[in-house]
Amino acid sequence: MPAATLTPNRLQALAQTFGTPLWVYDAGTIRERIAALRAFDAIRFAQKACSNTHILRLMREQGVKVDAVSRGEVLRALAAGYRADGSVHSDIVFTADLLDRETLATVIEHQVPVNAGSIDMLHQLGAASPGHGVWLRINPGFGHGHSNKTNTGGEHSKHGIWHADLPAALAAVQAHGLRLIGLHMHIGSGVDYRHLSEVCGAMVELVRQVQAAGMDLQAISAGGGLSIPYRDGEPVIDTEHYFGLWDQARQQAQTLLGHALQLEIEPGRYLVAESGVLLAEVRASKDVGRNHFVLVDAGFNELMRPAMYGAFHAMSLLPADGQADRAERPTVVAGPLCESGDVFTQVDGGVVEPRLLPAAQVGDLLVIHDTGAYGASMSSNYNSRPLAAEVLVVGDQQHLIRRRQTVEELLALEQGI
Ligand code: LLP
Repeated sequence: MPAATLTPNRLQALAQTFGTPLWVYDAGTIRERIAALRAFDAIRFAQKACSNTHILRLMREQGVKVDAVSRGEVLRALAAGYRADGSVHSDIVFTADLLDRETLATVIEHQVPVNAGSIDMLHQLGAASPGHGVWLRINPGFGHGHSNKTNTGGEHSKHGIWHADLPAALAAVQAHGLRLIGLHMHIGSGVDYRHLSEVCGAMVELVRQVQAAGMDLQAISAGGGLSIPYRDGEPVIDTEHYFGLWDQARQQAQTLLGHALQLEIEPGRYLVAESGVLLAEVRASKDVGRNHFVLVDAGFNELMRPAMYGAFHAMSLLPADGQADRAERPTVVAGPLCESGDVFTQVDGGVVEPRLLPAAQVGDLLVIHDTGAYGASMSSNYNSRPLAAEVLVVGDQQHLIRRRQTVEELLALEQGI
C-alpha cells in the first residue's frame, strides 16, 4: 500500500513534472524494511529486484551489501561504490548457475566471491583463479514460489548444485584450492514458513556433510524469497520469526563446526516492492462486448509481472478533476502494446479479470502499487518504447534517478555500423 509520503497530490505533481509512465520510489519505506532485518549479520540486497545505482547507493549508505547475477550487476554495484575483497565480508557476491567468459574475467579482476550454482563454475573459476573465494548454492531437492516460474528448488529447476552432488562440489573446491566461504540456499520467491523450516533443516544437514568431509565454512545464507502483501489481507511477514528459525539453524551448525557462523539474508522484493509505484495516464476507454477497458500509457514493457505471472497489483485512480466520488465499475486496465496480453488486471494464463475501479476519464492518473521490485528492472524496449524515468522521493525532496530514454538513443545502437 502507498507509502505515507506518496500522497495523491504529490504523485500528481510528480507526473506533471516528469511525465508518464513514471516509476516513483519512497526512500523512507526502503529504510524501514532494512531496519526490520537488522537481526541478520548481513543483509545482501538482491539487486535484480531494482538495480538503479541510486537505489544501490541508498542501500550501501544503510550498510546493506549486494548480490549480483550478471557482469552488468557487478559493474552497477561498483558504480554505486561497493567493493569486493574475496572474503566472507565482501560487499559484493556474484550468484549464478554459469560463468560466461567476460563475467569470469570481471569477478577475478574485482575479487568478487562467486556463489556457484554448478560444478562447472567451480572448475572454470578454479582453473583461472586458484584460491578464489566461493559460496555453494545448493538446491535442496524442493522449492516454493508465488509461481512455477519463480520456484527455484526441486528437480524441475535449473538452479543450484543438486544436494546429492555436494561431495562432488566439495571435491572440486579442494582440487582447485578454492576457498569455501559459505553455503547458500534460495528455493524461490514467496516462501512460506513450512518450506522455510525445511530449508533450515536442509542447511544444517549440508553443514554436517561439509564438516564430515573435513572442510570448514564461515557463513550461511538464507537466500531471499520474503513475500509482501500484494492484496489486502495477505499476511505481513514476521521478520522476527523468520530470523528466529534461521538463527536456530545457525546455532545447530555452529555446534557442529565448533565456531561462530555469519548468517546472511538476501532479499530483493521485501526491501523495495512496497516502496514503489508506477504512474500512468489514462488515454482511452472503450467497451468491448461485456468488458469495459481503460487504456493507459504504460504497458507490459514497463511492468511485466501481470502478463508474465498473472501477478496482482493494487491500483488506484487519481481523477484529473479531483472528483472524489466517482461511481465504481468493473474495469479491465490495459496498456498501449500490440498484444492482448498487455493487461494489468489478469490472472495466470492471460484471462482478463475486471477490477472495481472509479469510472476513469482520459487525463486521470492510474497508480499501480507495490511495483518497486521487478518493475523497472524487468522493463524492455518492446514496441520501440523507451525506458521510463525513475524518481526517488526522500522526505519532501525528490530526485530524478533515471531520465527517460529517447527513441534516438535506441536508434543510435543501430546506426553508423
Ligand atoms: N537470491 C537469489 C539467488 C535469487 O534468485 C532471488 C530471486 C533472490 C535472492 C531474491 O528473491 P526475492 O527476495 O526478491 O523473492 N521476477 C519475479 C521474481 C524472480 C526472482 C528471481 N530470483 C517476480 O516479479 O516476482
